[in-house]
Amino acid sequence: MKMMAMNGSPRKKGWNTVSMLESMLEGARSAGAETELVQLYDLTFSGCISCFSCKRLERKQDGVCAIQDDLTPVLAAIRESCDALVVGTPVYYGCETAGTRAFLERLCFPNGKYDLQRSSLFPRRINTALIYTMNVSEARIAEMGYATGFERTRSMLDRHLGPCELLLATDTLQYADYTCYESEIFDEAAKRRRHEEVFPQDLRKAFELGVRLVA
Ligand SMILES: Cc1cc2nc3c(=O)[nH]c(=O)nc-3n(C[C@H](O)[C@H](O)[C@H](O)COP(=O)(O)O)c2cc1C
Repeated sequence: MKMMAMNGSPRKKGWNTVSMLESMLEGARSAGAETELVQLYDLTFSGCISCFSCKRLERKQDGVCAIQDDLTPVLAAIRESCDALVVGTPVYYGCETAGTRAFLERLCFPNGKYDLQRSSLFPRRINTALIYTMNVSEARIAEMGYATGFERTRSMLDRHLGPCELLLATDTLQYADYTCYESEIFDEAAKRRRHEEVFPQDLRKAFELGVRLVA
């Protein structure tokens, strides 16, 4: 059982999204999975370029993106040997980061068949999940209209790859030291308190997610 995780945050160590992914992978390993963490921001790649090679009737392969860049071997590994996939991303302007978005376009579009059943060309169904981390509180998610976007992406992975769970870590810590940055809108003490008291619970939920996806 191979579990792959994509970190869609440009912050690669010690921050919110990657910590959630690392905890999730720890859970997956504890349940016997082999794991791999891919740092999307270490790779040079683009989103879909609308070449429609993946939709040509005389294409050589199904479900394969024609672009050759750093994402090519990652997409091949997902297609060939991944049994569970988790995508983690910070919320940027209400949705996934640009890198995560580009990755999801390249992963999903070649697998989406334009037939009436909207079937998938991915060779099997695998367990998937999306982890979002964000500044806003849980209460503000509905107010800000984020839930619709999260659900849209969740159902995209669900349709193309397999059943997809959502896990949210809200009201996250953004800076190591709030006194060094513009932060009038933030209450540093409250942020820090939440990071100490609630974020460990989020990490625990990520661990349990890893266990569940492998099971
Ligand atoms: C460019 C940018 C845009 C952001 N936009 C939002 C936003 O729209 N809503 C939100 O709740 N947080 C927003 N944030 C905050 C991040 O989502 C939050 O700090 C997240 O937990 C960072 O994840 P990381 O620590 O893994 O990098 C934004 C941060 C950046 C850098």
